[in-house]
Amino acid sequence: MIKIDANTNSTKLRHIAFIMDGNGRWAEKRGMPREYGHKYGAKTLKTVIERCAFHGIEAATFYAFSTENWKRPKKEVDALMNLLDDYLDRLLKDVDQNDIRYKFIGDVSVLKDTLCDKIYMLEDKSKEKKHIVNIALNYGSKSELVMACNKLIVEGKKQVCEEDIERSLYTSESPSLDLLVRTGGELRLSNFLLWQAAYAELYFTDVLWPDMDEKTVDLAVEAFYKRKRRFGSV
Ligand code: FPP
Repeated sequence: MIKIDANTNSTKLRHIAFIMDGNGRWAEKRGMPREYGHKYGAKTLKTVIERCAFHGIEAATFYAFSTENWKRPKKEVDALMNLLDDYLDRLLKDVDQNDIRYKFIGDVSVLKDTLCDKIYMLEDKSKEKKHIVNIALNYGSKSELVMACNKLIVEGKKQVCEEDIERSLYTSESPSLDLLVRTGGELRLSNFLLWQAAYAELYFTDVLWPDMDEKTVDLAVEAFYKRKRRFGSV
């Protein structure tokens, strides 16, 4: 169980996000094609989702496919889309086995119709569940902000405030982001949750995504509770 130090961080961890990096390197280290790493990465995703729910975290957001990932070789993009298809089948089958509400953030409308159908079905079937899991697909933070502004223009807004933007983001139903974790050793945000991360704690680990397990999730959660959050105050 996580040891919470009451002298440091009194803010509860309500929303965690993950940049799931390192699948390709994990596979290459094993002399395998990159797609093998993504396949293992999908198994890790399930483990991490369950561990976040175990910790009572209200929302967890995962960067599965960015607006820039279309630039990858066709073989890899196809493998990721097939993996997503299988993953959605499994989630749909197991929807009654857990208390997870799935939401897909990003412009999913460009995905194949069969994928969109499964995505909308899963969102609908899980809509009364407790723990939110946002899966970012064809997501980019800059396009999310443009989308939010365009929504507000359609509403007829001439001037906007922070609350207007907040409620127009894909993550509007999740609490404020508390902790952003990036695996795989790189130290950047890669166009992920730029607005939401304004006051989030950042946690970078060299662990490659497929090697994430319950213990490594616990380490990130523990690190969060050791941070002093001041939100601009003293
Ligand atoms: C980044 O690692 C990872 C991705 C672009 C894909 C993430 C996908 C998963 C974790 C699988 C689950 C996803 C679905 C669609 C169900 P990388 O490939 O850039 O790794 P590298 O930095 O080692 O090359």
